Amino acid sequence: MIEKMTKKSGQTDAEAIVFLKNNISELQLPKEEQIFVSNEVKGGKEMVTLQRLNRVAFFIPVSKETDDAGLEALRGKGNDIQSVVNRMKISSLRLNDRSGNDSAGRAVAEGIALGNYQFLKYLKAKKEKQNSLGHIYVERKSGNSSEIEELNVLTAATLLARDLVNEPVSFLTAEQFSKEMVRAGKMAGFKVEVLNKKQIEAHKMGGLLAVNRGSIDHPTFTIMEYKPKNAKNKKPVVLIGKGVVFDTGGLSLKPTPGSMDEMKCDMAGAAAVVGAMYSIAGNKLPVHVVGLVPATDNRPGMNAVAPQDIITMHDGSTVEVLNTDAEGRLILADALSYAKKYNPELCIDLATLTGAAVRAIGSYASAIMGTASHSAMKKLAESGMSVWERTVEFPLWKEYGDEMKSDIADLKNLGSANAGQITAGKFLEHFTDYPWIHIDIAGPAYINGANSYRTKGGTGVGVRLLFDFIKKNYC
Ligand code: BES
Ligand code: ZN
Ligand code: ZN
Repeated sequence: MIEKMTKKSGQTDAEAIVFLKNNISELQLPKEEQIFVSNEVKGGKEMVTLQRLNRVAFFIPVSKETDDAGLEALRGKGNDIQSVVNRMKISSLRLNDRSGNDSAGRAVAEGIALGNYQFLKYLKAKKEKQNSLGHIYVERKSGNSSEIEELNVLTAATLLARDLVNEPVSFLTAEQFSKEMVRAGKMAGFKVEVLNKKQIEAHKMGGLLAVNRGSIDHPTFTIMEYKPKNAKNKKPVVLIGKGVVFDTGGLSLKPTPGSMDEMKCDMAGAAAVVGAMYSIAGNKLPVHVVGLVPATDNRPGMNAVAPQDIITMHDGSTVEVLNTDAEGRLILADALSYAKKYNPELCIDLATLTGAAVRAIGSYASAIMGTASHSAMKKLAESGMSVWERTVEFPLWKEYGDEMKSDIADLKNLGSANAGQITAGKFLEHFTDYPWIHIDIAGPAYINGANSYRTKGGTGVGVRLLFDFIKKNYC
C-alpha cells in the first residue's frame, strides 16, 4: 500500500505535505493559502487541513529533529488523515515529504497505513464497508525507495498479525494457524516446518500435549527459519510465541462474563512472531532468525488435564498443574527447551501470559523481564520507545522463583496471588540456558476500542518492536 511516487501513480485527490515549520514559503502555495497555513501554524496548529470540493491537502509542520513522542504524534496525524480521506471516498494519497527529517514522513505514512486497517472477512457487505484508500504514494526530497519498500513490508507484516489475532477459533485452529504460517513463509521467503501431534509426542513435549488433552483439535509445533547467506550473526536469534488459539481456562474454567470474551487473542504472541519473521525475511535483513510456535486451544474436554496432575515436560522436568488456566507457560516451556538446540545468541518469547501484567501496566505497555545482558534489555526498551510499543522491565529475583516450587514435582504452574507476571517469568526461566527475554503482551495485544492507529481488536503489537530491535542490533 505504501509505494514510491512515480509517473504512473497518476493524479491523487489527497495530498499530505510534511514540511519544516519555518519553511512555509518553500511550499509555493497561492498567496492566500500560504497566509492561512502560516497563521494556523504560528497559532500552534499541528496539522492544517485545506479542503476544496473533493480534494484535500494536509499540511504537517515538523522540526528538523523529532523525539519518540513526536514521532508517535505524527503517526496519530497519519491516522487522522486516513479517516478524512476515507470519509471523502478518495482512493489514493500523495505524501510529499519536504522536511528533510527522514523519520517524520515515514511516521505519517505508517500511521495512515496502520489506521486504514479493517477486518471485514466475515461481513456480508464487505465491499460497501471497505475503506476507499488503497495507495499511499511517497514523494520525498531525501531517502530512497528501499526505505519506502521496507516500511510497506513492515506495515503489511503488522496487519498480517492483526488478521491472525482477529480470526476466531472457528477458523483458526492450531492446524489452520500452521497453514497460515506456511503461507506467510511462501510469501516472505522463509522456511516453515510443521510438527504434527505424532511428532510432538515423539519430541515428548508434555506441556503442549497436556494443554491439548481437553481439545478435539490437534496441536501443532511450527518451526520457521530465515537464514540468508549474508547473515551477520553466527548463532541465531530465536523468537517464540504463545499460540493458544483459544483459552477457556480448561477445567479451571474462566469465570465468564468477561474474562473469556477476548481469548481468541491468546495467540497474539505467536502472531507477532509470524509478523516479525515476515518483516525480516520480506526485507531480506542479513540476520539468521528462527521462530517457534507451539499451538493448541485450551478446553475442558473429557480427557482434559486436571488440577494436581503431574506432567513431564520436553526437558524432563516435572510440573504439578495446579491451575489449568496457567497453560501458556506450559506450552512455552517446551518451546524454550526445544530452542536450546539452536544455541541462540538471544531468545525472545512473546505471550499474552498473565492478567497480572494487565493489572500492573494496562494496555499501554508490555511487561519484560529476562536474563539477557543489561545492554540487550536496554536496547529492547529503546526500540519500544521508538516504535511506541513501550516496555516496562520487572525483576526476576530468586524469591519469586521460590513460589513456583512444588513438594511433589520439580515445579508447579501457579504462584501466589501477587506479581503473577513475574512468577510466570520465573517459571519460564527454568527452561532456558541462554540469554533470554520474556515479553508479556497481555495488555496491549488486543483492545476493545481503537486507540489512534491501533485499530480495535488485535493490534499486531510486537512486530514493529522485534523488527526495529533486530534490525538495529543484529544486522
Ligand atoms: N491467557 C491468559 C492471560 C490473559 C489475561 C491474556 C488477560 C490476555 C488478557 C492466561 O492463560 C491466564 O489465564 N493466566 C492466568 C494465570 C493464573 C491462573 C496463574 C491469569 O493471569 O489469571
Ligand atoms: Zn489461561
Ligand atoms: Zn492463556
